[in-house]
Amino acid sequence: MATLNKNYNKLQGAYLFSEITKRVKNFVEKNPNIEIIKLGIGDTTEPLTKTVVKGLLSGVKKLGNKKTYTGYGEAQGDVRLRNALSDFYKERNIDLSLQEIFINDGAKADCANIQSIFGVDNVVAVADPVYPVYVDSSVISGRTGDFVNGKYEGLVYMECNEKNGFVPTPPLQKVDIIYLCNPNNPTGAVATFEQLKAFVDYAIKNKAVIIFDSAYAEYISDPSLPKSIYEIEGAKKCAIEINSFSKWAGFTGVRLGWSVVPLDLEIEDGQKGKVHALWSRRQGGSQGTMYNGASNIAQEGAFAVLSPLGRKENKKVIAYYMDNAKIIKKSLTKIGLKVFGGENAPYVWVKALPNLNSWQFFDKLLMEAHVVSTPGSGFGLQGEGYVRLSAFADKKNVKKAVESIKKNLSR
Ligand code: MLT
Repeated sequence: MATLNKNYNKLQGAYLFSEITKRVKNFVEKNPNIEIIKLGIGDTTEPLTKTVVKGLLSGVKKLGNKKTYTGYGEAQGDVRLRNALSDFYKERNIDLSLQEIFINDGAKADCANIQSIFGVDNVVAVADPVYPVYVDSSVISGRTGDFVNGKYEGLVYMECNEKNGFVPTPPLQKVDIIYLCNPNNPTGAVATFEQLKAFVDYAIKNKAVIIFDSAYAEYISDPSLPKSIYEIEGAKKCAIEINSFSKWAGFTGVRLGWSVVPLDLEIEDGQKGKVHALWSRRQGGSQGTMYNGASNIAQEGAFAVLSPLGRKENKKVIAYYMDNAKIIKKSLTKIGLKVFGGENAPYVWVKALPNLNSWQFFDKLLMEAHVVSTPGSGFGLQGEGYVRLSAFADKKNVKKAVESIKKNLSR
């Protein structure tokens, strides 16, 4: 008799974004003539740049020609692309061998799947508020108990709030796997060198591993802030970095990213190279057990993203979204709302009006201003009382949204 993975029963409600979609759909059905402005899910809206389109087209053309046709790719992804990524890291004085870079089809799957190479009894720590994928994948893989009073038993929550600028500090107890998202989704906060160093020091001391999700790193414009965990000394001994082309090059639909699993990584019961070997076994493209590699067309596109022209063009796209973030932040601050993030990250974290919880403020924004946000409580207990606004939108819509909030939001 086949049985189900009962851990799924512990998951709370629907995945956050499907609950939002449901509420918006209900509102639209009842109010078909009202135009809704979506600043909810962080999904890109600007088209791919010319250079990236050219790259993708060249990938398609290669597949249509017997001489250049390719089937399964290199085990860990296209060598040219991994070389370009290695050069990308060199700009920050980080040396990575090609063997340490694994091309994936976007960060989300790797953030969840990486758990499969660690022991099921490992204790996981997450920030609170947190990108739900880290929590749900910990639940599904059996690393938590039940959901009690807003928290999963067995999961360690690192509280982020106004007092600590929404940047977590390492847990007081011993944990084994630490998820960090930096720049942070949902709060838009970014950790300093010192704040990340505290995590690296903790991880080395406790032989823990940091899963560093840096999908929004290219949104950091402040040169004093680190973009990669490997800018912190010792991080190669304890950190896996997962990144993506989704948010800075418009690949949310194209799907492509990468993970770095250093050969020097050491954990409690493993020798150097063991974590790398396991990930390679799982994820090593046509030579791995559970993945056949990313699309060769998407990889051509990503190679174009990393070209000098691609980089230049995507800087403009990043600036476009960051200008949206600035407009949101400035306008909402002006009307007396307390606003965080949005300076080195495309998310703006807004404190709800007094006496409203996140979902009430979400409903108010939807019903009175017709703006879709993401309720902070969907990201954890500490997110209660906040909503997130995404800067990934057409500028005209962002301007309309803030005007509508200014005009229609009753107190
Ligand atoms: C978000 O809105 O948090 C993101 O779109 C989620 C994701 O990238 O998976």
